[in-house]
Amino acid sequence: MPIYSKKIIQHFKRPKNVGKIKNPNGTGEAGNLLCGDLMKLYLKIGKNKKNEEFIKDIKFETLGCAVAVANTSLLTTLVKGKTIKEALEIKKEDLIEKLGKPLPPFKIHCSILAVDALKEAIYDYYKRSGKKIPPELEIEHQRITRIKNQAEGRYKEFRKLEEEVLK
Ligand code: FES
Repeated sequence: MPIYSKKIIQHFKRPKNVGKIKNPNGTGEAGNLLCGDLMKLYLKIGKNKKNEEFIKDIKFETLGCAVAVANTSLLTTLVKGKTIKEALEIKKEDLIEKLGKPLPPFKIHCSILAVDALKEAIYDYYKRSGKKIPPELEIEHQRITRIKNQAEGRYKEFRKLEEEVLK
């Protein structure tokens, strides 16, 4: 019996937009408290014909599971070419729906890494370019930073314990 949808497996085996962008104008990191996994996303923002800021290029690196890879791969394909406003409208529920079933319920938390890392990369872009940060994005930034720091702390503790056990 399959545990993941065909789409999850496809995106995991052949993820789109993996890697780094040289001289990005926004980067974002997010962590998952439940598993300690981390996601890093790079953005290149440009201006479209209507003079709106849009996502010209996007890439990601992760220490995440198959579902996190699939979600982020899908997200990058959805937001490439979209304006920042449109990109911020994509929710984890949209990714879950598009990837389809089955998805084990305990893997639902894996979908948040992609959207959180994107919010952080856009936040970073606004900061670097001296733009006013929308209040909702500021609140999200504080939440994501708190979780990422906790996840990193737990990972470090785990590594310390692991080193002691394995020495
Ligand atoms: S188990 Fe950590 S992101 Fe999926």
